[in-house]
Amino acid sequence: MAEQPTGLELQSRPRLSRRGLLSGGALAAAAAVTTGASAGTASTPPATSPAPTAPPADGRAVEPFHGPHQAGVATPPQAHAVFVAFDLRKGVDRDGLARMMRLLTDDARRLTQGRPALADTEPELAALPARLSVTFGFGPAFFDAAGVAKHRPESVAALPAFKIDKLQPRWSGGDLLIQICSDDPLTVTHTLRMIVKDARSFAQVRWTQRGFRRAAHSQPGGMTQRNVMGQLDGTVNPAPGTADFDQAVWIKEGRLQGGTTLVLRRIRAELETWHAADTVAKEFTVGRRLPDGAPVTGQREHDEPDFNRLTPAGFPVISEYAHIRRAHVSDPSQRMLRRVYNYDEDVAADGTSDSGLVFASFQADITRQFIPVQKRLAEADLLNEWTTPIGSAVFAIPPGCGPDGWIGQTLLA
Ligand code: HEM
Repeated sequence: MAEQPTGLELQSRPRLSRRGLLSGGALAAAAAVTTGASAGTASTPPATSPAPTAPPADGRAVEPFHGPHQAGVATPPQAHAVFVAFDLRKGVDRDGLARMMRLLTDDARRLTQGRPALADTEPELAALPARLSVTFGFGPAFFDAAGVAKHRPESVAALPAFKIDKLQPRWSGGDLLIQICSDDPLTVTHTLRMIVKDARSFAQVRWTQRGFRRAAHSQPGGMTQRNVMGQLDGTVNPAPGTADFDQAVWIKEGRLQGGTTLVLRRIRAELETWHAADTVAKEFTVGRRLPDGAPVTGQREHDEPDFNRLTPAGFPVISEYAHIRRAHVSDPSQRMLRRVYNYDEDVAADGTSDSGLVFASFQADITRQFIPVQKRLAEADLLNEWTTPIGSAVFAIPPGCGPDGWIGQTLLA
């Protein structure tokens, strides 16, 4: 066993106070200590510093605009997003809405492919779409204004009230939604500007919500992102290109066949108190480990959670109230697609932040897929201690279109 230093030895060691460390003398002393064996031999700086290598530029990357589904759903999530909701102006009817959608589809078709919008005031800004996608959604009242109420999917209606909700009108509702996503925030801003200008005579902006994920290329593609609470978020999600995904996400019949629905919830995270919780409590709350996202019953992120495993004392290892137990849906073809973004607005004078999730889920049917999960979470989810829904909106996402078509045509033409 190593001998413990005596009190006398401890006293005779030089003390490095915080203030002392910051003074030049102590810094030099610390440097001498850290260089260890090489102390005394002056290190020679390299004659030339290596030339920095610029990362490959791929702002020209494009996501296809045409197809049976709109881009921005199955598309691997881009780093930046803005969701903008509009209220339709009074008196705008089906013809007006069809004109608006032709115009906005034309903007989206051009901008996503790196071409300026018609009458683009800053055409240079269109050159780098950086995987831009523009996705359109119709709120419940859109169907009434267009005189096509009978084609509104039943589940595209106001959600039931959940007891955890503290909804604010400034983040809720809307007749028309446009989700703009790109790996380049300047492209998002430019696209938003062009779209809002062209929508202006038909609709008025109700709210905008900006969100972000990890920057493009900061981690290998396909890895799960972390949210502002530090958790890997998005592990259990339908995988695009699989039969389960198609079943879970796309509407199979009617005028909106090939479309989907979107639930958008702004969920505030209480980061002050979350930071005060220890790792064990945080992992217990969700049922997954923080470093690697593995279930607390497993080793790796994609291991199946064992909901039946008990502690030696006979309690479930994954708590009855853990987020993943409450949110779990065992049939993969009935899962929602969570395509969430983080938000982080101003820091208040007292240092508290206004942060959370712009939670976006896409599913074929809100009533069947989203509501049961949200109900279970509202009844009892340990995460509710730190999260509060403050905004809520639902939209039908119509199918995509071909080169001669426009978004919404199946409903409005
Ligand atoms: C701020 C709010 C929320 C946070 C921080 C959060 C965080 C997480 C985390 C860390 C996981 C585990 C990893 C994963 O599979 O992605 C997860 C899983 C999940 N969450 Fe949430 N979540 C929130 C809100 C919601 C809401 C509102 C819903 C739906 C109503 C939801 C539905 C789910 C589902 C379905 C899973 C997968 C469950 C499974 O393992 O089968 N989450 N969430």
